[in-house]
Amino acid sequence: MTNNVSRLQSAMRERNIPAILVSDITNVQWLTGFTGSSGYVLLTQTDGAFVTDSRYSIQAQVEVSDLETRWYTSATSLEDFLTEIATGLKIEALRFEDSISYAVASRWQREMSKFQWEPADDVLKSLRMIKTPDEVARIKRACELADECLKHVSRLLQPGVSEFDIDLDIEFFFRRNGAVASFSPIVASGPNSAKPHAHATDRKLESGDFVTLDLGAKLDGYCSDITRTFVIGTASDRHREIYDQVLLALETSTAAIKPGLTAKSIDGVAREVLDRKGLAQYFGHGLGHGLGRAVHDPGSLSMRSADTIAVGQVWTVEPGVYIDGFGGVRIEDDVLVTENGVEVLTAFPKGLTVMS
Ligand code: GLY
Ligand code: MN
Ligand code: MN
Repeated sequence: MTNNVSRLQSAMRERNIPAILVSDITNVQWLTGFTGSSGYVLLTQTDGAFVTDSRYSIQAQVEVSDLETRWYTSATSLEDFLTEIATGLKIEALRFEDSISYAVASRWQREMSKFQWEPADDVLKSLRMIKTPDEVARIKRACELADECLKHVSRLLQPGVSEFDIDLDIEFFFRRNGAVASFSPIVASGPNSAKPHAHATDRKLESGDFVTLDLGAKLDGYCSDITRTFVIGTASDRHREIYDQVLLALETSTAAIKPGLTAKSIDGVAREVLDRKGLAQYFGHGLGHGLGRAVHDPGSLSMRSADTIAVGQVWTVEPGVYIDGFGGVRIEDDVLVTENGVEVLTAFPKGLTVMS
């Protein structure tokens, strides 16, 4: 299994980064496998330590195997404790992540003034975008569970069932299967489906509704993120026209993904498909995002992205058309970039399903 600590250390040697204090908790979890909510990694090119507080001392010794675990109690400040450990690691210059607040950056520079502080570049972002085989295996399991969840809840897609009930059933399904929802599920029916990130309400499904279900599992630390849109009762020509174009945008842009291409060009492929029928104006968000430890992992498939497609990345591909007053359609798959294109990791059927 590739170890993310040694991947980061080798990137630090290449980029001439002497030492880094990793404080973003998702980055810390990605590096160490720690699942608690408070932890830091002090890393040099050859050595390092995982730092947490006494609440997590037992858990960390089990979960963190690639670094020595050190913990502090409330008798010590974090800054004094980090200073002691960094001094032991012979650190002089220390990079900090750009996710910390101005207040924290100021405090660290004041209370850990013996180090020369500099902002880190995007070294963690670029590493996290390329998944190890172990990470891919976990994402695949999270995708399988999301597929099963959709199959399980689709029985509720009938007139009279409320968005709340479907939302709850999704959450229960994941919890019952040893996972949690990777984000608050989106259950959006009828006019609500025109809101890309609608929260479930007490609205009851009606015949003629589009219903968008956007859900994902977080299983063993890794996420999935899938969207399917259904029609309740009877589908009109307008339903079919919009649905078919979003599906075509998904399939065409997915087929276009190849290592070496720009992320922005893939977004452009989907937009061009929708534009042929005058629907691109209703597609306001980007085509997709990275997927991994976080449901919105580093990386963006969007008009302004500077990212490049590479083998080992995992992306969501999620075109949508949202028409105020009528409703909306989004269809979202998760894909792994391979040498020749992609492997689609989400398998739930994508043809228009009319629930009657
Ligand atoms: N579930 C939020 C998204 O698809 O990005
Ligand atoms: Mn989603
Ligand atoms: Mn998504």
